[in-house]
Amino acid sequence: MILKKHKASITGVHGYVPDYILTNKELETLVDTSDEWIVTRTGIKERRILKGDMKGTSILGVECVKGLLEKTNTDPKEIDLIICATVTPDMLFPSTSNLIADKIGATNSYGFDISAACSGFIYALATGSQFIEAGTHNKVIVIGADKMSSIIDYEERKNCVLFGDGGGAVLLEPSEDETGIQDYLLKSDGSGGDMLCLKAGGSLRPASTETIKNKEHYIYQEGSSVFKFAVTNMADISEEIMNKNKLKSDDISYLVPHQANKRIIDATAKRMGVGPEKVLLNIEKYGNTTAGTIPLCLWDFENKFKKGDNLILAAFGGGFTWGSLYLKWSYNN
Ligand code: UT7
Repeated sequence: MILKKHKASITGVHGYVPDYILTNKELETLVDTSDEWIVTRTGIKERRILKGDMKGTSILGVECVKGLLEKTNTDPKEIDLIICATVTPDMLFPSTSNLIADKIGATNSYGFDISAACSGFIYALATGSQFIEAGTHNKVIVIGADKMSSIIDYEERKNCVLFGDGGGAVLLEPSEDETGIQDYLLKSDGSGGDMLCLKAGGSLRPASTETIKNKEHYIYQEGSSVFKFAVTNMADISEEIMNKNKLKSDDISYLVPHQANKRIIDATAKRMGVGPEKVLLNIEKYGNTTAGTIPLCLWDFENKFKKGDNLILAAFGGGFTWGSLYLKWSYNN
């Protein structure tokens, strides 16, 4: 029997950010920085922090999925697969997606995590779409969530101003028409791996008094080098997916970019020839939530989207990893 091929549609989105707001003003009391420096260099005004003991990324994922199930009127037992993109899993194993599945009662689902840093959500969305297109799965949840505050040194100004905690989740189902995920491009280059990484805690450098003393369990980033790669690659891959799909600037309804730095986003939009009215931005509220930025953006701006709108998602991050994804939005609100 030949299965009818369906595209994978996003049929719902929900996001979650913790209540605690860490403002630039509060950061001024922790490290030698200023609101002016942070806003002009990055566009960030505040970020959310998940406070309290024994609270990992799965908490963020559970809140996203609970809201998503309610919104889409979905029984957790109907879910076939949960994919969670994160670089801050609750533990190295088991996977955070398994923990989320358990906490939401998705007893018929299996799950796995994807580690692709800031490109994680695009990687996970492309992966999830394959299971729908193959005709083997009907309901796939894709989550992008990170508790970046768990790997940030709040005594060092370079990184603590950039990152925040949060996430979002989408439901993927077979499309009933030609809307849904149309195409994607995913790339990586491991030679950039040591410019943005978590040096210790893995099998290479297991935790020791030395790794703790050297602060190797906090994020390490060579900011200005990463910036140069990000600007070029995010713009290139966004232009490439437009050309591949014969999309002109006017055909694009919205650019949904990873929110690491407003200057990187501006460069990407410029290359694509899209004006600021088409660029979705929430970096000022949440900072860089790594795998969380794109689904949080979809959630924040969901009310703007109309069925058939052409969205380009684009990201660059640790690995290096980068990617773009072209989708036609599948529903009206
Ligand atoms: O999401 C994953 C991928 N990551 C990214 O895309 C991030 C890419 N990188 C960036 O967005 C930018 O490089 C940063 C925002 C991280 C830094 O901006 P920059 O314009 O590249 O600054 P810089 O690192 O070249 O530093 C410029 C100056 C330095 O001082 P000197 O050496 O010129 O005296 C830094 O010490 O700014 C100083 N600086 C700060 N000053 C105030 C660095 N961090 C801070 C700070 N507050 N928080």
